[in-house]
Amino acid sequence: MTASAHDTAHAAIETIRARVFAFPKRHFLSAGDLNAPQAADLLDLADAFVALNRQTSKTLDILKGRTLMNLFFENSTRTQSSFELAGKRLGADVVNMNPKTSSVAKGETLIDTAVTLNAMRPDLLVVRHASSGAASLLSQKVSGHVVNAGDGQHEHPTQALLDALSIRRAFGRVSGLTVAICGDVLHSRVARSNVALLHTLGASVRLVGPPTLMPAQAERWGVAVHHDIKAGLAGADVVMMLRLQLERMQGAFVPSTREYFRFYGLDREKLSRAAPGAKVMHPGPMNRGVEIDSDVADDPAISLIQDQVEMGVAARMAVLTSLAARIEEAGR
Ligand code: NCD
Repeated sequence: MTASAHDTAHAAIETIRARVFAFPKRHFLSAGDLNAPQAADLLDLADAFVALNRQTSKTLDILKGRTLMNLFFENSTRTQSSFELAGKRLGADVVNMNPKTSSVAKGETLIDTAVTLNAMRPDLLVVRHASSGAASLLSQKVSGHVVNAGDGQHEHPTQALLDALSIRRAFGRVSGLTVAICGDVLHSRVARSNVALLHTLGASVRLVGPPTLMPAQAERWGVAVHHDIKAGLAGADVVMMLRLQLERMQGAFVPSTREYFRFYGLDREKLSRAAPGAKVMHPGPMNRGVEIDSDVADDPAISLIQDQVEMGVAARMAVLTSLAARIEEAGR
């Protein structure tokens, strides 16, 4: 490492140490667990981790001696590897549980699994499950700290945090921006967590999608609801596209994916309604040619999709560091 690279890495670590604070809750289950100053503190801490992650040497000992268990009952590529990298870069022992080879496949219940794993004394449990409320249920049965990595159609709070980080870095702020969340809102935990956190941070949120994919009384979330994408995107600063969650649909919610693309797929023509300089986001995995055209998804001048993946590791490092600080505070 050159002297200046060494200095930058050292400065990043010093910044991180100065920004660490004890997580406000025992578990991170919902985006609503954070108030505005707490969310801003986590974003500041995450920013410092972005700087660290861009160095050659990225490993710290903040979680040394701690065990992080990734419990992914549902398939995931980026979220699981993001938490795994976050844990490893912080010096934790990371265990990935694969439900397909575990006793869950043999009929063990979620609670049995939780109680068994709890006996191995994990400090942090990162949980993804197809049922809404699973992470909360599990948090009542274990002594470690639970992070909800997506429970059914309910919440995915670290996704909302990484999205807010991507937006804040692109625009310098979140407050006052208009964010249009478009597509399969009905089945989306990403949308629910984002609505909550974006509101906390002072953004105004619109939901855009066909009536069949919009939750009943979505207006009650304090958002504007649009079924016409052109009106929904008009003047928006951020266009957040959602994946058509075909695996959660029983029956036909859209006539065909081709027709869906015609009315709701984001292409340059529809995007031209948004504000000048608008940014496009997608939590991944993308259905190209269904909810988003590759032409906009892959344009680095407008797409934040790759930034979101990078910010995911930093945002999760911030959450894990802050939860670890809470463990220290409790003297465990
Ligand atoms: C999201 C999820 O799993 O909820 N993806 C992710 O976390 N990267 C969104 C999705 O699956 O469409």
